[in-house]
Amino acid sequence: MVEGALNVGLIGLGTVGSQVAERMLTGQPQLARRAGIDLCLRRVLVRDPQKQRAVAIKAGKHVVTANKVVMAKHGPELLELAVERNVDVYFEAAVGGGIPLISTFRTDLQANRIERVSAVINGTTNYVLGRMATGGLSLLDAVREAQAAGFAEADPSDDVDGLDAAYKLAILGSIAYEIKIRPDEVFREGIEGIEPVDFRYARELGYAIKLIAHTQRHPGRVEARVHPAMIALDHPLAQVEGANNGVFLEGDLVGQVLLVGQGAGGRPTASAVVGDLIDLARSIRRGVQSRPSFSLDDRIGVIPMGEVVTRAYYRVRADDRTGVVAAVGQVFAEEGVSISSFIQKDAWVEEQTAELVVTTHPASDASLQRARDRIGQLEAVRAVSSFVRVF
Ligand SMILES: NC(=O)c1ccc[n+]([C@@H]2O[C@H](COP(=O)([O-])OP(=O)(O)OC[C@H]3O[C@@H](n4cnc5c(N)ncnc54)[C@H](OP(=O)(O)O)[C@@H]3O)[C@@H](O)[C@H]2O)c1
Repeated sequence: MVEGALNVGLIGLGTVGSQVAERMLTGQPQLARRAGIDLCLRRVLVRDPQKQRAVAIKAGKHVVTANKVVMAKHGPELLELAVERNVDVYFEAAVGGGIPLISTFRTDLQANRIERVSAVINGTTNYVLGRMATGGLSLLDAVREAQAAGFAEADPSDDVDGLDAAYKLAILGSIAYEIKIRPDEVFREGIEGIEPVDFRYARELGYAIKLIAHTQRHPGRVEARVHPAMIALDHPLAQVEGANNGVFLEGDLVGQVLLVGQGAGGRPTASAVVGDLIDLARSIRRGVQSRPSFSLDDRIGVIPMGEVVTRAYYRVRADDRTGVVAAVGQVFAEEGVSISSFIQKDAWVEEQTAELVVTTHPASDASLQRARDRIGQLEAVRAVSSFVRVF
């Protein structure tokens, strides 16, 4: 027997909203038992440009949202406003769909100092890169296939250019370190430059290629970057297949933790939204907020990408003649970049060109990028066809 009710207004009844409504309508007794009060879906709002809308938090309402763009861009202000108005904002579904991430940081790992978080956090690009790797498809064909399979939107540009992953990393990093990371502070490169041959070379070198969102703590500052990366085949994130997401984190007490699952879709995302609703209802019934409120330190900044130390892979199309290897090596030496492997791959006899594949030891990203630009300008070099960081 439960007493009382939490009245819920649902804005949007699309992929996620319709699954939330379905679970609230069909799973009512079970949800009420878990929450300790009834969860009543009172209102559903769909698009109507004529209609005035109340701003939820200011009207003293708790908010449960799946909207990553709003949380990435305005999360810190919304969370501060929520504290001011004594309401709560839940946003588990905004990152990683059904994978429990926000609550993991906020409650289960709150005894830890989080040192780093690396993630495959965009299912569309993971599916696309996977098909390029296994099927040899071009980027365009792999995107078309992802659209046909329902894993990519009609306009997938926010996924392909890494923006969606940058929004999610801004949220994850902010919560993990309790600092303010704005999406425009996250270094971002999309997957447009990757070609099928890079997967073949990567595999020969012992790597997979993934779009990686990575953040790491340094004294007084953090790294925050999203870009395609070569990642060792035995790294847990290299095993995250298809449209799945994976988050690999390290805390000082817990050590390494891997969370993998469906990062999007109506049902997984509704799992997070309805879970938040139950948590909220429980807090209301008990008259206490079961989760600590946020206090985000704004003195900790993001390290400019040029200062980040990483490794890189270069694929260079150059004239197949003597002196070219020495000229390329000379640029690396002048930039203070130590070479890890240098291999001559396919040769085009008629054109008298060959492909050189170089991987480096760790160096500042600025040096790695300068080396790329300078190699591209060498007289014997036709193009630096690919530049991918090695994770
Ligand atoms: N789909 C996923 O896998 C996923 C995963 C994680 C997070 N999210 C987030 O969840 C949210 C919903 O995604 P979705 O995939 O369910 O989108 P969707 O299928 O496009 O549905 C959006 C819904 O919102 C309504 N809507 C749009 N603008 C509105 C407005 N100004 N006022 C009132 N209603 C409005 C639409 O109304 P009409 O039906 O009238 O157009 C529609 O019902 C987004 O913020 C998305 O980023 C989605």
